[in-house]
Amino acid sequence: MQPNTLSGPSGSPALGVGDLVHTMHPAEVPGALVKPGAEPILRATAIQKFFGLNHVLKGCSMTVYPGETITILGRSGSGKSTFLRCLNFLEEPSAGVVEIHDRRVISNPLAPRSKAVKEDIRNLRLRAGMVFQEFNLFPHLSVIRNLIEAPVHVKHMPVAEATELAESYLEKVGLIEKRNEFPARLSGGQRQRVAIARALTMQPDVLLFDEPTSALDPSLVGEVLKVMESLAHEGRTMIVVTHEMSFAKEAADRVYFMDEGEFVEVGPPEQVLADPHDERTRKFLSRFLNI
Ligand SMILES: Nc1ncnc2c1ncn2[C@@H]1O[C@H](COP(=O)(O)OP(=O)(O)OP(=O)(O)O)[C@@H](O)[C@H]1O
Ligand SMILES: [Mg+2]
Repeated sequence: MQPNTLSGPSGSPALGVGDLVHTMHPAEVPGALVKPGAEPILRATAIQKFFGLNHVLKGCSMTVYPGETITILGRSGSGKSTFLRCLNFLEEPSAGVVEIHDRRVISNPLAPRSKAVKEDIRNLRLRAGMVFQEFNLFPHLSVIRNLIEAPVHVKHMPVAEATELAESYLEKVGLIEKRNEFPARLSGGQRQRVAIARALTMQPDVLLFDEPTSALDPSLVGEVLKVMESLAHEGRTMIVVTHEMSFAKEAADRVYFMDEGEFVEVGPPEQVLADPHDERTRKFLSRFLNI
């Protein structure tokens, strides 16, 4: 993280860039739930997003530390995907700051993007790998070529090195034998595991998952969750939008409940899921009675 940033470990709001204030929730402050002295790997500060007059994100801040698994819950349309997409500027926030590892981008959608800002956004994207609901594999490329495409063409990694890395991640997701297969000949669960291996091959600092199991046949959900749980347990930093309460319960360090573009409750899963303090969280969770 760069110095002169946004808030002290006390959690008290401090003035940061311009008038953007990075507020920390008590559950994000090192010393209690977070290891004392931990340094964030990702900070989102006061993210706002308008689509026309629709105010979709109303000042969302989040602090994530290396090795943490974060889950974001909330009902449909509350802004979860938009927030995730803002983190790597797939959507440009209307206002706010995103910092990942050593990169910081201050959103300024009205200004033309300078070369330096474009480079910062490119670097931010390299630090945040995204796994989508719909896999987004290239249908005309084999599994292994899907995996090495971006490392070779975006990161300029030598083909042999990218291939070796890709194979190690295919091994990890249990699909090395599908190395030369085409996506159309894989099951949905296998495609999603390939998509996870593809994201890993870019060696991002943070993995972003947007409902990675919701397009799957229920019988295939388990194999994908198993891979994600093993990544969480081996210390990958992950932010996961999901409706899978069992994953949130087993793997999350913190749960963020979003309602109408705001994080209205933040805490460890055993509190947010079992003893929600906010009425909106309670109402949402009442739909998942068997957690
Ligand atoms: N590209 C876009 N253009 C205009 N409006 C958008 C766009 N993307 C999202 N929205 C609007 O922003 C709001 C939040 O959408 P978002 O997709 O972030 O919700 P979500 O919490 O991910 O919902 P779901 O659980 O259904 O995926 C919705 O009102 C949606 O219609
Ligand atoms: Mg969504």
